[in-house]
Amino acid sequence: MLKVENLYASYGAIRAVHGISLEVAEGELVALLGINGAGKSTTLKAISGVLRPIQGSVMLYGEEIGNRKPEAIVKKGISLVPEGRDIFGGLTVEENLRLGAFASYDRARYKEDLEEMFGLFPILKERFHQAGGLLSGGEQQMLAIARALMSRPKLLMLDEPSLGLSPAMTDQIFELIVTLRERGTTILLVEQNAERALEIVDRAYLLATGSLEFAGTPDEMKRKVDLTSVYLGGDEDETCEVRL
Ligand SMILES: Nc1ncnc2c1ncn2[C@@H]1O[C@H](COP(=O)(O)OP(=O)(O)O)[C@@H](O)[C@H]1O
Ligand SMILES: [Mg+2]
Repeated sequence: MLKVENLYASYGAIRAVHGISLEVAEGELVALLGINGAGKSTTLKAISGVLRPIQGSVMLYGEEIGNRKPEAIVKKGISLVPEGRDIFGGLTVEENLRLGAFASYDRARYKEDLEEMFGLFPILKERFHQAGGLLSGGEQQMLAIARALMSRPKLLMLDEPSLGLSPAMTDQIFELIVTLRERGTTILLVEQNAERALEIVDRAYLLATGSLEFAGTPDEMKRKVDLTSVYLGGDEDETCEVRL
C-alpha cells in the first residue's frame, strides 16, 4: 500500500535522510529501527507531509502523495502519532479526540468511532472530560494513538510510542499495537527498543545515518545484524556500531 522510493529529506543544510526506499503491504506491521539521529522520525515526517521531501517518491496505493499537504495526506489515509505524543494538554480528552476526527467530521461516525476507542482504551472513557495534560504519560500516548485512529487511517505510523513509559505501560502499548494489527490496521512502527519491536513485527528496516542498512524479517535481522545491548533500547547517550 505504501511505497517510498529514493526519499531525501533535509532540515536546511542538514541532510537527515538520503535515498531511502521502503514498502509496507496492506495489513503488515513493519518496524523502522536505528540509533538516535539515524533519520527515523524524519522519514515518518516526510511520509506524512509534515516535512516536504526534497527528492523521491511516496506512493499510497499507487498514487503519488509526496507533494501533498499534511491534511491532504491524513485524508488519503496516513496518520502519524509523532514522537513525544503532541496531544493538546489544555484541551479535554474529548476535544483531542474530536480534533482527530475533524478531517472528515460526521456525527454518527464520530459516535461510532468513539465507542470503538472506549473499547480499545477504557481509560479514555473514564478521563473523557479531563484535560489531556493531566493524564499520565502512558494515558497521553493512548490518547495520541486514539486521536490518530479517529481519522480511520489505512496506515498508522507510530514514532517511539513507548518512549519514557514505565515497563508496565510499555507492555500495554506493545499489546495494543498487536491488537490494532489483528484488527487489520497497517502499521509502520519506529522503536528504540529494537529487541521488543522484533518480537511483534513482520519485517523491519534498519536505518543508519540517513540510509538503509538492512531490510528483512526479524529472524534475518537477528541473525545478520549485531543488535548489541546498547542499541537495544539502552541509554540514549551511548553510541554503538551496528555491524552487518
Ligand atoms: N528540526 C531539526 N532541525 C535540524 N536538524 C534536525 C531536526 N530534527 C532532526 N534533525 C537531525 O536530522 C537527523 C535525523 O534525525 P531524526 O530523524 O530525528 O532521527 P531519529 O528519529 O532516528 O532519532 C539527525 O542528525 C538530527 O540531528
Ligand atoms: Mg526520532
